[in-house]
Amino acid sequence: MIVCVCNNVSDREITRAVQMGMQSMADLRRNLGVGDCCGKCGSCAKRIMRDAAAACPQQRGMSLAAA
Ligand code: FES
Repeated sequence: MIVCVCNNVSDREITRAVQMGMQSMADLRRNLGVGDCCGKCGSCAKRIMRDAAAACPQQRGMSLAAA
């Protein structure tokens, strides 16, 4: 499923980014472009990050403060 239409970023790409160590929306924005245009994907991307982090022990406790 495409999460960020502006930059054609899927939920799988966001999940993989979390598994590779990205820990915040700022990381996603900087590396994938998520949320850097219209911003409508922000809440969905955060939810996917949270779910991915919960499933990935190394990423528990990640910061989503930088939206
Ligand atoms: S949908 Fe992600 S920035 Fe527009």
